[in-house]
Amino acid sequence: METFLDLGRQPLSNGFLAADQFQDEYFFDLKACFNTDTCMVSLEKFVDSSKMFNENYHYHASKSQTMIDHFASAASDIKELFNSVPTVLEIGSNDGIFIKNFDPGHSYCVEPCSNFAELTNSMGYKTYDDWWNVETSRKIVDEIGKVDVVYSASCMCHIPDVENAFVAVSNILRDGGLFVFQDPTAYNMILNNSYDQIYDEHAHIFSVLSLSKILNRCGLQIVNVTPLDVHGGSNRIYACKSGTPAPVVNRMIESERSIGLHKSDTYHRFADNVRKSREDLIQLLSELKSDGKKIISYGATSKSTVVFNYCSIGPDIIDYISDTTEVKQNKFLPGVHIPIVPQPPSIDDSVDYAFLGAWNYLDEISNKENVFLSRGGKFITHVPRVRVIGE
Ligand code: TMP
Repeated sequence: METFLDLGRQPLSNGFLAADQFQDEYFFDLKACFNTDTCMVSLEKFVDSSKMFNENYHYHASKSQTMIDHFASAASDIKELFNSVPTVLEIGSNDGIFIKNFDPGHSYCVEPCSNFAELTNSMGYKTYDDWWNVETSRKIVDEIGKVDVVYSASCMCHIPDVENAFVAVSNILRDGGLFVFQDPTAYNMILNNSYDQIYDEHAHIFSVLSLSKILNRCGLQIVNVTPLDVHGGSNRIYACKSGTPAPVVNRMIESERSIGLHKSDTYHRFADNVRKSREDLIQLLSELKSDGKKIISYGATSKSTVVFNYCSIGPDIIDYISDTTEVKQNKFLPGVHIPIVPQPPSIDDSVDYAFLGAWNYLDEISNKENVFLSRGGKFITHVPRVRVIGE
């Protein structure tokens, strides 16, 4: 294991809090390392999962239309692969954004955040309020038998003992069944300099290279890969107990090797770029602020928790963050304590610049904020480099 990046003292990225909770706030040292054997990028130290994923989990996937459309299309692609209605188990079902596209009679969920487990249970989907591991897989197989499809979005990378999670998938998948999972990629992180993919919940950042090695040890084989735009660049991986990989699998591994994802030097260079990004962002925001500009942030994302804490950017620079998620509103961003307000239909006329905390929804946000943009309002992003968009 080689540590390559130190993002400093960080709070829980989704630990939005009220002012009377500031004193008890939890912090940890956020560092990323590279495994020279598996080529996996992981956190140097994992944060205890129950601190992050519990009944207070703040991230509601259904708050973005882009994601609603995305999961409807994922579900329809999966249905097309089967002649009859498949039995589906979703791991990490959040607010039901994916599973609601399937018939409750044949679909099951596993979700350790009990606020969401209750919600999908109430929608008619039998939901196990458990951590996904070998023990849980045995319990579920005893109750419902093996399934045709295991699906998981932005969840496998959250599991510290990911090998155990993959073995658990292998246990519950019937022979000939399909494991489909999608998570952000190291490839896009390196190309976009999007260091804010590294946070407490992302125990690992996957590459096809690293996954092919690890899945093989767990009795699974990658048979297909689809690159996706969501979450700043993700891969949807299709794996089976046995099968022939489509040519794209090796092509993806070759592209990953061509940018050096198999070499630790690549990650050290990335860390240099990350430090430069921090300097540039502090400089840009400080200059705008000294010129009397009003700057807000758009989307109280876990990614922006990382950026603002790493760069020590607080409410003296960013007046507020707007977000559509009710449970985040009227709270504060973890660590640097920038206030979060409900998102108005259009950015307030007094605002000059909006930092894109949710930079991965640039198209959706630009469409919504055409009034802001046409009156000369500007977006700021740090991806792939710090810049005012359109300048
Ligand atoms: P994500 O990047 O982890 O999906 O989080 C996106 C966050 O941004 C989520 O809290 C919802 C918020 N958001 C807005 O407030 N307005 C928007 O227009 C979009 C697309 C997202």
